[in-house]
Amino acid sequence: GAARLVVDDDFEIAPVNDRLFGSFVEHLGRCVYNGIYEPGHPESDEQGFRRDVIALVQELGATTIRYPGGNFVSGYRWEDGVGPKEDRPRRLDLAWHSTETNQFGLHEMAAWLQAAGGNELMEAVNLGTRGLEEALDLLEYANVPGGTELSDRRRANGADKPFDIRMWCLGNEMDGNWQLGHKSAEDYGTLAASVARGMRQIDPDVELVVCGSSSHVMDTFGRWEETVLEKTYDLVDFISCHAYYHPELQPDGSRDMVSFMAAGVDMDNFIKDVAAAIDATKARLKSNHDVFISFDEWNVWYLNEEPSKNPEGIGNWPVAPRLLEDIYTAADAVVFGDLMITLLKNADRVHAASLAQLVNVIAPIMTEPGGPAWRQTTFFPFSVTAKLAKGGTVLEPKLASGTFTTPRYGEVPVVNSVAVRGADGTVNVFAVNRSLDETQEFEIKLPKGFAATQAEAQTLHEDDILACNTLEEQDRVTLHPNDTIALDAANGTVRVTLPPVSWTAV
Ligand code: AHR
Repeated sequence: GAARLVVDDDFEIAPVNDRLFGSFVEHLGRCVYNGIYEPGHPESDEQGFRRDVIALVQELGATTIRYPGGNFVSGYRWEDGVGPKEDRPRRLDLAWHSTETNQFGLHEMAAWLQAAGGNELMEAVNLGTRGLEEALDLLEYANVPGGTELSDRRRANGADKPFDIRMWCLGNEMDGNWQLGHKSAEDYGTLAASVARGMRQIDPDVELVVCGSSSHVMDTFGRWEETVLEKTYDLVDFISCHAYYHPELQPDGSRDMVSFMAAGVDMDNFIKDVAAAIDATKARLKSNHDVFISFDEWNVWYLNEEPSKNPEGIGNWPVAPRLLEDIYTAADAVVFGDLMITLLKNADRVHAASLAQLVNVIAPIMTEPGGPAWRQTTFFPFSVTAKLAKGGTVLEPKLASGTFTTPRYGEVPVVNSVAVRGADGTVNVFAVNRSLDETQEFEIKLPKGFAATQAEAQTLHEDDILACNTLEEQDRVTLHPNDTIALDAANGTVRVTLPPVSWTAV
């Protein structure tokens, strides 16, 4: 039978936080250099910012930007990136086996965000090779108005007003053994608590994100959250989650597409597990404080496959090499859309999220040096969800769907969906059909008394689920109007047909 979503206006999950549409700019490969920043490109402004990229970022609807890493931040000296550009050192970037020229740093990032329309900056401090003192120095430099050594240095470097950064990440993926300065949960929790206390002595109103697990499948998952939250609970506002999905290669060379299509199920369970750890800690500590989830890295990523391999060799440290330049398929975009639905469904617990990353590096936007910028397949679900859901309220999803069986996650619903009441009174529904071969009829029961006059749907679907957008063919995959949509105003229903492997916005 048809999958069915009952939209009940009386039951709300949460307002949609603008920060759910955050993204991530790391000093990694060509995200910064030859991505957002390319002096001399015909489209670049006098600061070297590519205007064509900024236009796409605006169309994408990305909000808060996490910066400067990622794994990069765990070896980063923020001072290298401020002051006259000709004096800035070239350094080894151990995370990505590259050379960091430091021609782009905090001031450039803040200026770029202004040029992009005033997006918020979410800054990460280095708790890998560094610690409390450097975190405090950076906060003084960024947020104190003036009259001290570091705040005056910022002013001398051209930023008279403080950057006034609200959101701060206390390190990055400190649970991962690949992380420079990787720590045990006990050691990290103790350090994060002392850094949080110190930062609040400078600026009590900062919003702090403590590192959760790098993925749902880490051996330390669960215990890490418990230990770290126990030590930091009342001092932080968020705990992070990171998750990347891809269709895993099987011994016979095929990929597990069936499980991949259900990645949203895993993300949903991940969020529920971390929420449980937060609640348990809150209860144990008898705290009145709330900690939310910052899902500050999520995407499809063909991790450990080309082109994600680091350069090698003691004499080989390239500047901005092509790294993690995944080219996304139509199927990837459908799973990606499902991840966005999942974030929305959990909007009561997830108050911020960052699509990793923004340009060139596992990104919705690609560029060529001296050449064009274009949209990957994943661009479309992000831009449409951001456009329709921003400012809205997520309604409790009452969804009935058939199921299918996956090797990895067992039995899962074929259709996933969520409804958002728009700021303008519209009802917006996002839906995926996870089936690889079956079309699904989908019925939406509109809220009682909602006088629908018009219904529209756009679908991302390709008969070739591996179709993608490339430099040669930049507009191969895009959204198409879904003409199967039928509004029955008398009965308050909308019906639409969802092709196999498709994402739809109604
Ligand atoms: O986004 C790419 C990398 O993935 C980040 O640097 C790191 O935090 C994560 O492992």
